[in-house]
Amino acid sequence: MVVNKHRPLSPAAFIPPDLVQPAVRLAVSGEAALLNSTTAAAAERMFAAAATAGVVMTLASGYRSFVTQTSTYNGYVATRGQAEADTASARPGFSEHQTGWSFDIGDGGGACSFQPCFAEQPAAVWAKANAHRFGFIVRYPWMYHETTGYYYESWHLRFIGVEAAGDMAARGVPTLEEYFGLESAPAYL
Ligand code: DAL
Ligand code: ZN
Repeated sequence: MVVNKHRPLSPAAFIPPDLVQPAVRLAVSGEAALLNSTTAAAAERMFAAAATAGVVMTLASGYRSFVTQTSTYNGYVATRGQAEADTASARPGFSEHQTGWSFDIGDGGGACSFQPCFAEQPAAVWAKANAHRFGFIVRYPWMYHETTGYYYESWHLRFIGVEAAGDMAARGVPTLEEYFGLESAPAYL
């Protein structure tokens, strides 16, 4: 499943049938602490490996329902206006967070949470170098907003499986759009 500004969820109010709470360090509760079962199992392996490497990693935002994404997106629009909101937050029905395959990481500190400076924090540095071993990619890489539709999010990981993530890393393919030969999705149609 590839979700971007050209590829909404279908149906728009899709709810993953197998949401579970992973046994990882949580920075959130409720719905945001849920992932689909495959992603949750992979997250448990990745967070454990990060901890072994001395890296603190938290689950900062997992599943988001259509309704939650509506308020999240509207919050961005209210503070930044729609044009800027669209570079950072998906419209309801267009967020990977609604699939259960994605989540945002934190580092337990919070000063740089969801900020550009998170990219230099140990959790993000470790994830960028190691996430593929657990089946994850950094879904919105630096300077690929014309392809993905979003500016760099060093905290947003997407599960695609160990084989595909390893293949992308080995071949240096930066985006899921490019990997699957899909059109770039810089804006809504
Ligand atoms: N921040 C990502 C793009 C989302 O809203 O799903
Ligand atoms: Zn995210």
